[in-house]
Amino acid sequence: LAIDLFGIACDAGASRRGCTMGPDAMRIAGLADVLSGLGHAVTDHGDIAAAATPHTVWQLPERRQAAVLAMAAQSSQQAAAALGAGRLPVFIGGDHSLSIGTLSGVAQHCDATGKPLFVLWVDAHGDFNTPATSETGNIHGMPLALLCGEPDFGPEFSGPWRGTIDPRHVTVFGARSIDRPERQLLEDRGVEVIDMRRIDEMGVVALMREVLARVEAVGGHLHVSLDVDVIDPAIAPGAGTPVAGGLSFREAHLVMEMIHDSGTMGSLDLVELNPYLDNASMSARLLVDLTASLFGRQIMPRQSVRTGVD
Ligand code: ARG
Ligand code: MN
Ligand code: MN
Ligand code: MN
Repeated sequence: LAIDLFGIACDAGASRRGCTMGPDAMRIAGLADVLSGLGHAVTDHGDIAAAATPHTVWQLPERRQAAVLAMAAQSSQQAAAALGAGRLPVFIGGDHSLSIGTLSGVAQHCDATGKPLFVLWVDAHGDFNTPATSETGNIHGMPLALLCGEPDFGPEFSGPWRGTIDPRHVTVFGARSIDRPERQLLEDRGVEVIDMRRIDEMGVVALMREVLARVEAVGGHLHVSLDVDVIDPAIAPGAGTPVAGGLSFREAHLVMEMIHDSGTMGSLDLVELNPYLDNASMSARLLVDLTASLFGRQIMPRQSVRTGVD
């Protein structure tokens, strides 16, 4: 595959600072080399310019919102352009508000090509709050709601992102922290939420097969948005909003391996890595290894593989 890496060094949507260092931590952990080693043609485009937020701006919530949307305008274009050129964009965050831009660009591409878009939101959280339901005001808890067209967002949130995603094509996987009103919205809009209890009961394999089969059946484009906090904080402490009881090392890899085998992934966000909170880069390295599984690294070769190299 031809892979485009874009760093989005933003933390204006987060509850604490530090995930601006996420893209560099992933680079230093060897992301590009690992992907090239799997036989892919990788281009690192560096960090997109609009992402940086001065500390004085970060301290003012109104200004943070404007910063998030300025960044989204830029990353949206980059996502659409990379896909239009036949490349697979990987966005390295940065807090989860960056998906407002990346997913809207992906949606634009899918609209133009007529490919149905599916979103797999791999996250401890639902990220389906609105300015009216959010208890924190942090935009990284809201991107899905904005993309799915929730009406609570004021005109200041207008842009190509608003309402570009069909909530019935969204699966939240690995959830274990969802706010009350957020839960109601997810139910009302028909978002599929695969929470940790279902994963405990059914296992990741049966659940992921169903998700991927729906995408395969219609030749869809799968956008994967991987929030590092879906993984158990014991093995991935570099996250600003950690929640106990997350995916194990093997569960997380298995999910990635299954996505790879399905050959459906067309774009990827790697978000919420906070090197300031990490323990000796263990979360950065885990994320790089998970990305390797997503792009075809295997312990032993398997017959079912449709894409990538052996
Ligand atoms: N639900 C909480 C909120 O809305 C936490 C969101 C955490 N989101 C994230 N992308 N880490 O503030
Ligand atoms: Mn395409
Ligand atoms: Mn998230
Ligand atoms: Mn999260």
